[in-house]
Amino acid sequence: MSPVKKSIRTQLAAHYAVIKNIHIRDLFIQDTHRGKNYSRHLCGLNIDYSKNIISAETLSLLVAWAIASNVEESTRAMFAGEKINVSEDRAVLHTALRSKRDQYLKIDNIDVIAQVHAELDKMEQLVISIHDKSHRGWTNKSIDTFVNIGIGGSDLGAKMVVDALVDYRLGETRSFFISNIDYQVIESLQKTINPETTLFLISSKSFHTIETITNATTLIAWMQQLGCNDLHKHFFAITKNRDAATEFGIKPDNIFSLWNWVGGRFSLWSAVGLPIALAIGFDNFKGLLTGARAVDEHFLQTPLENNIPVILALIDYWYADFFDAQTHAFIPYDESLKLFPDYLSQLFMESNGKSVDLHGHFIEHKTMPVTWGSTGLNSQHAYAQLLHQGTHLVPIDFLVPLTTTGNRKHHEILLANCLAQSRALMQGATHTDPNQHCVGNRPSTTILYSALTPHTLGALIALYEHRTFVQGLLWQINAFDQWGVELGKKLAVELYQNLTGKKVAGDLDSSTQNLIELYTKSRQ
Ligand code: F6P
Repeated sequence: MSPVKKSIRTQLAAHYAVIKNIHIRDLFIQDTHRGKNYSRHLCGLNIDYSKNIISAETLSLLVAWAIASNVEESTRAMFAGEKINVSEDRAVLHTALRSKRDQYLKIDNIDVIAQVHAELDKMEQLVISIHDKSHRGWTNKSIDTFVNIGIGGSDLGAKMVVDALVDYRLGETRSFFISNIDYQVIESLQKTINPETTLFLISSKSFHTIETITNATTLIAWMQQLGCNDLHKHFFAITKNRDAATEFGIKPDNIFSLWNWVGGRFSLWSAVGLPIALAIGFDNFKGLLTGARAVDEHFLQTPLENNIPVILALIDYWYADFFDAQTHAFIPYDESLKLFPDYLSQLFMESNGKSVDLHGHFIEHKTMPVTWGSTGLNSQHAYAQLLHQGTHLVPIDFLVPLTTTGNRKHHEILLANCLAQSRALMQGATHTDPNQHCVGNRPSTTILYSALTPHTLGALIALYEHRTFVQGLLWQINAFDQWGVELGKKLAVELYQNLTGKKVAGDLDSSTQNLIELYTKSRQ
């Protein structure tokens, strides 16, 4: 660590020793305009970070840490297509996916923007042909059902957006997402859809993910058993590995391209987002892209002290490194965002759940906490007790719409509860009975948005993407590789051989050996 960074961390530690004894309540008393002074508006999002354990001095020291962590230079490098994913020697350009057509960016002498817009045009053509009913199935029926076959970044983002924007659905269509290998998922789908009117999207950047390929193979066989004599009318692929998709049997015209500079968990803006465009129409999909682009412009152009993704990432860093926060909860008071916590789990924990820095050195301090969450008010009847009176410090993001198209009374009760939770967690309540006493001083950030439109959702997702990137910079982590997931996949192939008797188990631990024997005995 450089002498400058050591000095800043020493100052942060000294500041922590003071502010940890100050109650957030007192910070509000000291600054009667704190609510407004620690709020920012960004692309339809009102971000209130005033109920955090921070002062002007805190933010000043944290911004100094951001500067010492080269946040501005690294941000410019990312947008410029430099290979900041150092362990895989790749650029990181999910921002290019929502670029304007007239922008220009070359990577390895290839015009990236032209590539992006060629795929967007191809996506638009498919969406149009489905909705104008010119694209028909093998029995000449029009398509009304979309099945995405993919997992991780090839599933979570698109599924979350399709679910969130249900009010923007185009026509009478339905979407399904098949990710797990558990056959129950396939059985349930087969009972639900009409194969003659269904389009299947095999979404896999590598086209090697065994659960995705197995699910696709099973569904192709099912279609053939039902008499489908033209699979090309029903199966498309989204992948970087065009050769593998072609070898699998997908015709070239039915393959949408990805590139190695698109990380899976950052890919919903690409053809991985085809389920979104099919569900809500291409104009609304472009609204999602435009919202994200607006946040990109804010992130790239705004000085650190007013840069929202940077501020939120700095507060995350402050809690992880100085308050030893082990987890962070995301609680949307919005059923439209019920899948958002799951999506954020991959975004945050697959990006920054690491212990080696950009230079291959082990990191001596804490990095990414565990992220979790679910919708409110249900949270209040499940784990709010721990949040209010537990022994863990759990920073929280609350997300809530200001308006509703539904019942006003229901919405006002929902909003009142969301605001009450953040106030109660901050304020606490003194009581002579220790069982009823709430210390408070439990931090949260509240994000309010007027309504969850495609533009607003695009902005919200981009805000979290850039927050993830900046967290990585503050911990000097490469947020864009995921080597940790490979060992489990490798062992699964070996144990599959053992389970199916194709290979005698080698020197397994006695637990795994015993569990395999239980299975093989159950088969006898
Ligand atoms: O979880 C590991 C991972 O590689 C993710 O990064 C990725 O989104 C997912 O698996 C699926 O990979 P693919 O799109 O190559 O099937």
